[in-house]
Amino acid sequence: MQIHVTSGAPAVLRAGALVVPVFSEGRLDGAAEAVDGELGGALSDLLTNGEIKGNVGEVALLHAPSHGFKRLLAVGIGKREYGPEALARYAGTAVRHLGKRGVTSIAFALPLEARHHTRDAAAFIVEGALGGTIDATTYRTEPDKPIALESVTLLATAGSHDFDKASLESGAERGRILGEAVNFARLLALTPANDMTPTHMARAAEDVAKKYGLKFHALDEEQMAKKGMGAILGVSRGSDEPARMIVLEYRGDPSSKEMLAFVGKGLTFDSGGISIKPAENMHEMKYDMCGGAGVIAAMSAIAQLKPKANIIGVVPSSENLPGPRAVKPGDILRAMNGKTIEVINTDAEGRLILADGLCYARELGATRLVDAATLTGAMVVALGHAATGTISNADAFRDHFLALAKHTTEKYWPLPLYDEFSQTVKSEIADLRNSTGRPAGSLTAAAFLKAFVDDLPWIHLDIAGTAYTDAETPYLAKGPTGYPVRAFVALAEDAANGAPRTKNGAAKKAAVR
Ligand code: BES
Ligand code: MN
Ligand code: ZN
Repeated sequence: MQIHVTSGAPAVLRAGALVVPVFSEGRLDGAAEAVDGELGGALSDLLTNGEIKGNVGEVALLHAPSHGFKRLLAVGIGKREYGPEALARYAGTAVRHLGKRGVTSIAFALPLEARHHTRDAAAFIVEGALGGTIDATTYRTEPDKPIALESVTLLATAGSHDFDKASLESGAERGRILGEAVNFARLLALTPANDMTPTHMARAAEDVAKKYGLKFHALDEEQMAKKGMGAILGVSRGSDEPARMIVLEYRGDPSSKEMLAFVGKGLTFDSGGISIKPAENMHEMKYDMCGGAGVIAAMSAIAQLKPKANIIGVVPSSENLPGPRAVKPGDILRAMNGKTIEVINTDAEGRLILADGLCYARELGATRLVDAATLTGAMVVALGHAATGTISNADAFRDHFLALAKHTTEKYWPLPLYDEFSQTVKSEIADLRNSTGRPAGSLTAAAFLKAFVDDLPWIHLDIAGTAYTDAETPYLAKGPTGYPVRAFVALAEDAANGAPRTKNGAAKKAAVR
C-alpha cells in the first residue's frame, strides 16, 4: 500500500474517493468546507437534511463525477474533543464502506484541529485505515471480495500552512508500521488452533526475526525441563503438541543494561483441561494466544521503528487439553524460580505458563516487565470489552504507562493489587494455589503472577475483554482487535526517551514467600 501526503487544494486531488470528517455538532471544517464550496453546497445540504449528523460511524456518500476525486464520503467523527480512537475509527469506517464497494485509493481530509498534533493524527488515521482492510474470511473457499486498499492520501488543506509536512510524513510512516503490526497480530489470532500450534507460533516469530533482523530462539520441552519450567510443562502435558518458550530480542542500545521485557500468553487453545470448559463459546479460546501474538507483532514494529532501547519479547506457548497424561486438580507443579503451585483448577493455566515466562524474562536480563494475557473471565465481568485492566507492583511505572496509553487507540484502566490478594493465593500444601474462587478473580490472578516477578517493576495487562470482539463495528471486522500491540510499541518508544526508572516503583518483595 502506498501512502501520500499532500497539502494541495481538494480540487487537484486524484483519488477514488475523498473522505471528510463531520463533527457531531454538524460542523464542517478545513478541507470539508473547501470541498463543500466546490460542490456547490452539496455537503452542507446533507447536514441540513439530516442525512448525516456527525455521530461516530455515520456515513453519507456523494458522487462527484466531474472532480478528480470521484466520490465524496462524509464520515461522522463525533465530538470536537476527539481522541486517537476517533481518528482511527474515522479512517476505518471509510475504508470498510468504500473498500467493500471496490474503491482502492482513498484520500482523507485531516480535521483542522489536527494541526496541533499532526504526527499523531497522521499515524492514527493510517493505522485506522489499515485496520479497516481486514476481513476474517481467509479460510473460505470463496472469500468475500477483499478490501484492496492500494493508496492512502492524507490531505492537509485549508490552513495547510499550519500542517508540518515532515510530521505528516513521519506520522504516516509510523501509522503504517503500527497498523501492519496490528493486522499481523489479528491474523495470527484468527488462525484456528489446528494450524496455530505452539510450533507454528514459534515459526511465526522466527519469520519476523529473519525479516526484520531480530534475535530469535525458542526452547523446546527438553530445554524447558532443564531450566525447571515445571509450570508450563504441567499445562502442556495433556497435549500432543509440544510447548515452546519463544524469545525475540531487539538491542537498540547496546551500551545500556536496561531491558524492557514483554511477556505474552501464547495459549494456542484453552479447553480448560481436566477442569473442562462448557462448550458454549469454547471455540473462542483459539484467541487465548492474543497476548503472545501481540508480543511477536509488536517486536516486528519495534524492529522497524528502531527505538534506542533494549527490548525482549517472551512468549510461553502451549495447548491446554485434557488427556491421560494431563495435569489434574490437586497436582503440584514447580516453576522455574522453585516455587511450588497447587493446581486447584486446570483452567487457570494462563498464570502457570506466564509464571515460567516471567522467570525466563528475568533470567534473560529484563529490568522491567510488562505482560499481556487473556487471563480471566472476571476481567470481562469487570470492564466488559471497553478497557484493559492494568495491574502493577509499581505505581509510578503504571501511571506513566497509563499516560502513554492515552496517546494510543487502545484503552487501559488501573485496578489495585492489594496484599490481601497475595494472601489469598497462598496454598496450604504448596507455596501458591492457582485458583481461589470468584471474588476479585482478575486481581488474585495478578497477585499470583506477582510471585514470579521478584522485585522488578512490572505491569500486568489483562486483555480478556479487549483482545477480541464478537460485535462487527463500522470501522473494524469482528474478531481479534490487535490489543496490546499499540501499547507495547508506545512503551518501547518511550523506553528510548529514557523512561523514568520508577523511583517509587521498585516494588517491595513479593508478599508470597
Ligand atoms: N483464557 C481464560 C480466560 C478467558 C475467559 C479469556 C473468557 C477470555 C474470555 C483463562 O485461562 C481461564 O480459563 N481463566 C479462568 C480462571 C479460573 C479457573 C480461576 C476463568 O476466568 O474462569
Ligand atoms: Mn483457562
Ligand atoms: Zn486461558
